[in-house]
Amino acid sequence: KPIYILNGPNLNLLGLRQPEIYGRETLDDVAASCAALAGDLGLGLRFYQSNHEGVLIDWIHEARAEAAGVIINPGAFTHTSVAILDALNAFEGPVLEVHISNVHKRETFRHHSYVSLRAEGVIAGFGTEGYLLALRRMRTLVGS
Ligand code: DQA
Repeated sequence: KPIYILNGPNLNLLGLRQPEIYGRETLDDVAASCAALAGDLGLGLRFYQSNHEGVLIDWIHEARAEAAGVIINPGAFTHTSVAILDALNAFEGPVLEVHISNVHKRETFRHHSYVSLRAEGVIAGFGTEGYLLALRRMRTLVGS
């Protein structure tokens, strides 16, 4: 089964919005780097982005049957969404949480994550490289 990488709101603007915080790489660039690494690691990959909470929840439900693990950058839903936490709690495989920026260096409302209550691990502040680090960790978590 593949790994799902799910991206939440505004991440479609990666590379364009606040590049001083999020860098110049686009989400397409990230998807391409992740696909290359997943290939090297022998993992299948589905890479998705939505600005809509319900769409992200539907993908997490789909992951119950279709995915070996979920890597999620929930964007601002990290700090607000009990519904995404509940959906992840209904998924039985490993979950890793990624943030491009170091949320702990930013506003206090970014310091709390609902998703961290479910995630096996969290990466924050490693830029877009965090997705690649999470994929490597996922390789270990899902075994061979
Ligand atoms: C983010 C951090 C969130 O606080 C923010 O709302 C985002 C992106 C990150 O990747 O650093 O949209 O998840």
